[in-house]
Amino acid sequence: MNAKKTYYITTPIYYPSGKWHLGHCYTTVGCDMLARYKRMRGYDVFYLTGTDEHGQKIEKRAAEAGVTPQAFVDGLVGELKDLWKRLDISYDKYIRTTDAYHKAAVSAIFDRLLKKGDIYKSKYSGLYCTPCESFWTKSQLADGKCPDCGREVAETEEECYFFRLSAYADRVKKLLAETDFLEPKSRVNEMVNNFIDPGLTDLAVSRSSFSWGIPVKNDAGHVIYVWIDALSNYITALGYASGDDGLFKKYWPADLQMVGKEIVRFHSIIWPALLMALELPLPKKVCGHGLLLLAGDKMSKSKGNVIDPFVLVERYGIDPVRYYLLREVPFGSDGTYSGEAFLHLFNQDLCNDLGNLVKRTVAMSLQYFGGRVVRPEKPDPADAGFIAAVNALDGKLEALIDKLLINRAAEEVFALIGRANKYIDETKPWALFKEKDTAVLSRVIYNLLEALRVAAAALLPFLTVAPKRIFQSLGLAVPALFAGELVFGKVAAYQTTNAEALFPRLDIERELTFLEDIIAKAAANSVKPAGTREADKQPGTQEEKAMEEGVITIDDFMKVRLVTARVLACEKVEKSDKLLKSTLDIGGGETVTVLSGIARWYDPAELPGKDVVLVKNLAPRKMRGIESQGMLLCSSKGDRLSLVCPEKGAEPGSEVR
Ligand code: MSP
Repeated sequence: MNAKKTYYITTPIYYPSGKWHLGHCYTTVGCDMLARYKRMRGYDVFYLTGTDEHGQKIEKRAAEAGVTPQAFVDGLVGELKDLWKRLDISYDKYIRTTDAYHKAAVSAIFDRLLKKGDIYKSKYSGLYCTPCESFWTKSQLADGKCPDCGREVAETEEECYFFRLSAYADRVKKLLAETDFLEPKSRVNEMVNNFIDPGLTDLAVSRSSFSWGIPVKNDAGHVIYVWIDALSNYITALGYASGDDGLFKKYWPADLQMVGKEIVRFHSIIWPALLMALELPLPKKVCGHGLLLLAGDKMSKSKGNVIDPFVLVERYGIDPVRYYLLREVPFGSDGTYSGEAFLHLFNQDLCNDLGNLVKRTVAMSLQYFGGRVVRPEKPDPADAGFIAAVNALDGKLEALIDKLLINRAAEEVFALIGRANKYIDETKPWALFKEKDTAVLSRVIYNLLEALRVAAAALLPFLTVAPKRIFQSLGLAVPALFAGELVFGKVAAYQTTNAEALFPRLDIERELTFLEDIIAKAAANSVKPAGTREADKQPGTQEEKAMEEGVITIDDFMKVRLVTARVLACEKVEKSDKLLKSTLDIGGGETVTVLSGIARWYDPAELPGKDVVLVKNLAPRKMRGIESQGMLLCSSKGDRLSLVCPEKGAEPGSEVR
């Protein structure tokens, strides 16, 4: 019997140094989709992820938090594993660089290279960037600063070990320039022009300024550079250099190593050179995807501009978060996170297109045939186009996933779902029912059930909840493989059962406010060092205890700038049932625009001339593309709402206290 073809796929191993965010989920969900897809195509898949737990940054973070580095990483690793569980990540192994087997294997790798002469000890004097743990030459600096992070570098001299990277420069250049090793192609020029052609110098692969790392054997005070430790994970996880390398023999070389573009340099230059030195086969492909940005900037734990995936999954469920990550940003390009786009995909694709197709199709099968719908003797030529569309999905998926165009593959599945919805409108089953045209009606419903079944099967690698529920409604077992599944006409007879709503329609305005609040909260909690964040504070003084109970100090209150304002003009906001847009005179010749959710209680014509109270120093916020520069005070209870107005009127810009 032929052994199954193997497929080894890896994510980067993440630094447990702060809050996990949606950016980390981007790579992991992308790889999860690919792993699930390949399994369904019959491959023997090994999907690896994990954490990169050593290094100076983590040592420092742990010290700030007042715990040992091990305790510090243990906490964050627990959270990350929980996150992967909540997102249904189907990894086969989770590696931690603090695992004993990994440390022993890295030590052995280092030793081997030392014996071979690919690692040697020498003196280093040069420029060092502490946060990146990297040495640089003067010519490599960007405006005198670290080319990776833009921070100051310091003149350093120390004894350390070097990896003979220069010896592999030609082979690495050939690999990048002449093969498909690195994707997308645009990254190849970047690597060759910026790093290889200017000259690859030997790489300092030990550090002596801190101790949280794998020690260099027989040389106290030196630890192995975090990137050598980290990159080796892809082979140590399979048992390389451990005496039990069955998995290594089976799965190495990796088929796909997915990384963010900011670490492509490590994976396309240092990593292959290291493998060449170890005389091991190279991974078949490294793919450097783009980044998920927030307001044009990279999401990063240190900047605090992050989206908390736990909150998203909790509120919206697994499928919408996975779908957003897989559908929104084409792999390879950068993409900007937007709450509006997330909600649009939820309401449009998941609720309207998919949800409605399921509900309508299953409901009609139940109403017209008690759920039993049988395959017609032979298909009607009139349906040829529709059937061809269903059958075309298989090939389209394969071609797109082959090129890692995950978002385009998702689009194709939804194009079929759209086609099926259109087929309902074209064939009008309710009219056929009225006309008692049972044979045609049965054929139409069968065609729809088949389209839905094929779409649901194709969605299995993308979404992990809804497709299974669809199979349940169709009265079928969930397929484990694609083989024979993505073909029209497979099912001889359906016996459907009830279909519940898969995705409840969301109120966009309410959810946008919710999503904007998550960002604001993350930012508020990030600027301060660990231990001083609101969440970390230990109540101490009487004042602090009162604050815990929701009491604020006079200083807190004085931070809110309340002024009176006169409404100059007011109108409804387009496409919104709730919002009014007011132009306000706030004195001193200044006017501001404010959006308020009061359209249910006020006609815009009533407001001009009214004196109202404005929170003037609220951070501006964009809603429906309009920036709101403050907030009007209102009283509200139950269904009653009333603007707060100074009883005798007031000069615009009067202080309210
Ligand atoms: N520990 C190293 C990687 C070692 S791999 C041998 C590291 N860790 S990290 O925690 O900073 O994770 C970086 C990776 O997380 C990126 O390469 C990418 O895969 C993912 N992402 C983190 N932020 C991201 C975005 N904002 N957008 C998309 N992916 C991002 O670097």
